[in-house]
Amino acid sequence: MKRRLKVMTVFGTRPEAIKMVPVIAALKEDVGSFHTTVVVTGQHRHMLDQVLTTFQIKPDCDLAVMQTGQDLTNLTALILQGMQRVFQTERPDIVLVQGDTTTTFAASLAAFYEKIAIGHIEAGLRTDRKYAPFPEEMNRQMTSVLADIHFAPTKRAAAHLEIGNRRKDSIVVTGNTAIDTLKLTVRGDYTHPLLQKIGDNRFLLLTVHRRENIGEPLQRIFRAMKEIVMMDRHVHVVCPLHLNPLVRKQADAMLRGVERIHLIEPLSVRDFHNFMAKADAILTDSGGVQEEAPSLGVPVLVLRDVTERVEGVEVGALKLVGTEEARIVEMASALLNKHAVYEKMRQVRHPYGDGTAAHRIAKALLQRYDWWI
Ligand code: UD1
Ligand code: UDP
Repeated sequence: MKRRLKVMTVFGTRPEAIKMVPVIAALKEDVGSFHTTVVVTGQHRHMLDQVLTTFQIKPDCDLAVMQTGQDLTNLTALILQGMQRVFQTERPDIVLVQGDTTTTFAASLAAFYEKIAIGHIEAGLRTDRKYAPFPEEMNRQMTSVLADIHFAPTKRAAAHLEIGNRRKDSIVVTGNTAIDTLKLTVRGDYTHPLLQKIGDNRFLLLTVHRRENIGEPLQRIFRAMKEIVMMDRHVHVVCPLHLNPLVRKQADAMLRGVERIHLIEPLSVRDFHNFMAKADAILTDSGGVQEEAPSLGVPVLVLRDVTERVEGVEVGALKLVGTEEARIVEMASALLNKHAVYEKMRQVRHPYGDGTAAHRIAKALLQRYDWWI
């Protein structure tokens, strides 16, 4: 009889947690096959804890590395050292990492140094531009080099891995686990006091946090948002502010107190997914939001010059608008006034999977059992 596979999930930020939730559930569902441990680096604190609380996940270990205004070098060093201790004590058969954060890369590097197998969830996304997004593009490329099994969300992502000379039998197309999580959160009868206040008016949901947007691009984005609400008194903007102090400083200076712009604290994932489902359109530089919104049939204007989520653009659910003020105003107005462009974008499509990615990941781990034991 096979012994149970020791799988350690490692994550540190809000989006990794949201996408790891269904994976942990799928592994824990099969206690006969998997011994599952959950390690968090604590790269994020409050925003990570929000997800852990929502889904009642109690980590077996928490490195608690977050510092206010942390820089990449120190963050990487802290995670590398912390994960070395964890790996030396726990010796899992395989570690699962997700996405493209500093936690993803540093935990993978630490696993490699300890000769522990690595499974990379959401593998193969690419812009092939070193600094866009920064540091995520290189984090995911370097993680791909270290990983033993690659869980690609789409065929396109799998093709990127093949072009990058990853072994074909080490790549599994699974869909994105973010879609699995949506199934746990979105409810037709959802209500919230802020949504009640907005009532029958229209609302745009705005999120921003990318490093490359901090500074001038954020100023242009925020000026555009002010212009949009000034043009129509029936339009509201809801902006759950990321906890990065650089983002908050700019948002506070430019948007705080502006009529019908609601700067609020980060929403729990349950609240946020339901706000997404009810929004007239979403403006964002987030990666995860670009994946979730098409499955909810809500148009997204992507506030970036380049995206690795090309599938959503191709099916017409996302539009890459960049960060120029005039273009953002023009595109948001077109959507709010429900021009033909809105109708085309609001169809529900599933370019990132059918919500069963986590079970595909668990199955693939068992099929390749001999690789890790
Ligand atoms: C990180 C990831 C980014 C991901 C994003 C998701 C890296 C380098 N960046 O970016 O890929 O898209 O998370 O949100 O891995 N902070 C808090 N509380 C929190 C979270 C953040 O106070 O719960 C503040 C801290 O001052 C922290 C700062 O935000 O130093 C920046 O956090 P960090 O994880 O370094 O970068 P993000 O921009 O959040
Ligand atoms: N999200 C959330 N609360 C918020 C804003 C976003 O739970 O107030 C969720 C969102 O649904 C998505 C994830 O957080 O699943 C995206 O996180 P973020 O934009 O911080 O990171 P990225 O995806 O860009 O790495």
